[in-house]
Amino acid sequence: MSSVPPAAVVVLAAGEGTRMKSATPKVLHDICGRSLVGHVAAASRALSPGHLVVVVGHAREQVTAHLTALDPDLVTAVQHEQNGTGHAVRMGLEALTGLGADLAGTVLVTCGDTPLLTSATLQALADTHAGDGNAVTVLTAEVPDATGYGRIMRGADGAVTEIVEHKDADAVQRAVQEINSGVFAFDGRLLAEALGKVRTDNSQGEEYLTDVLSILRGEGHRVGASRAADHREILGINNRVQLAEARRILNERLLEQAMLAGVTVIDPGSTWVDASVTFEPDALVHPGTQLLGRTHLAAHAEVGPHTRLTDTLVGAGAVVRNTVADGAEIGAQASVGPFAYLRPGTRLGAKSKAGTYVEMKNATLGEGTKVPHLTYVGDATIGDHSNIGAASVFVNYDGETKHHTTIGSHCRTGSDNMFVAPVTIGDGCYTAAGSVITKDVPPGSLAVARGQQRNIEGWVARKRPGSAAAQAAERAAGGGPEEDGNG
Ligand code: UD1
Ligand code: CA
Repeated sequence: MSSVPPAAVVVLAAGEGTRMKSATPKVLHDICGRSLVGHVAAASRALSPGHLVVVVGHAREQVTAHLTALDPDLVTAVQHEQNGTGHAVRMGLEALTGLGADLAGTVLVTCGDTPLLTSATLQALADTHAGDGNAVTVLTAEVPDATGYGRIMRGADGAVTEIVEHKDADAVQRAVQEINSGVFAFDGRLLAEALGKVRTDNSQGEEYLTDVLSILRGEGHRVGASRAADHREILGINNRVQLAEARRILNERLLEQAMLAGVTVIDPGSTWVDASVTFEPDALVHPGTQLLGRTHLAAHAEVGPHTRLTDTLVGAGAVVRNTVADGAEIGAQASVGPFAYLRPGTRLGAKSKAGTYVEMKNATLGEGTKVPHLTYVGDATIGDHSNIGAASVFVNYDGETKHHTTIGSHCRTGSDNMFVAPVTIGDGCYTAAGSVITKDVPPGSLAVARGQQRNIEGWVARKRPGSAAAQAAERAAGGGPEEDGNG
């Protein structure tokens, strides 16, 4: 069945969220690389609504700035005082009609602190609502602990009659396990009309959105309910315990999708991924790995253990072990780590290597080029099939400015080199171990830039007479007694 897009989705996000005990507004807290309200906005946007409006109140400048950066087509409506969910929806609809929006059709209402609700569930709610010809359809769930939630009241025929808030409920009503998720589909015009009739004669003195249901029913309209298959989808976040729980559930869900799409995850319990991470089949993730931002693992890439990749592209068949990388591009079949740190602007060519205790920043390695051990490569371009000796430093900083080093293809640089930038080493060069390279090296040359070795014979015997070193030297010269003295 092809669904008609809703006329609007209204997201309620004006509440303060005091139980987070945070300087950050509740809906801006992050799970899996996106704010709580960002998840809700994305799920809502997936339904292609005519309008998407978020009702903001507490910390509204900060929340609005965040939302418009995320989704420029979204509208925010201000609720100056938090006078209840019905009042909040009223503010949302008034903002839309102020923009000339027509509310004919379905209007969905959801909450900014319910990040696990999927677009599929929202769509199913909208479809049930339209299919049954309802004036309102509430998304309900059976939860293990219904404390605090509005309870769904049904008549003898099973039809929903009203929603009673926990604070207004008697003991019999509180025993009901089916709760209001806070997510609804409404006929837009009937909703707008009914909101004008909502009163505040309840224990909280608020305009309850839930009262719209009994108002519409009283007027003879059809009221329906749709039960969520998985009650965890409607988990609302009020404190950091629930924040961690939601993150774990979403992470599990993301890993499950990846595994079903052909990714091997050795230990889902110790693997954390952001919602924006993408994979190709036969990628493999070892334990203790975090994949963040726009990280992508190509086919047969192998990542981990104990690795954190942020906005990093891992090419097909590349291996990345015990590594921290941020903003790096790792070529096909390249090898990284163990214990490498790749910073923004690192680009590793196919079959290249950034080995153990190697740090790289704003640096490009060509195909097959290797930096195997103990080296810092900053602000550099290295050609194809070159090898950088162990314990080298690309000396890029003169105390004021950063400079670039260029090394050609098929070079073999010695161990313990300092490349003092700006400097260029041509194709096919060698450099001697321990060299401090300050001048350009023409192609095909050997550069030697170190002190000449000089041996001062007999120095130990003269300057450290009787020392263990002097005795060893004497033995080596065939003079003195054997070391253990019993020969
Ligand atoms: C509400 C429902 C309850 C349901 C529960 C689900 C009502 C009267 N009650 O209760 O039946 O079980 O959600 O979580 O609707 N908000 C505003 N402005 C306001 C008040 C709230 O924007 O004036 C927003 C909050 O930021 C939040 C959402 O609406 O995102 C729900 O508000 P909250 O106070 O958590 O609702 P509950 O009283 O828990
Ligand atoms: Ca409340």
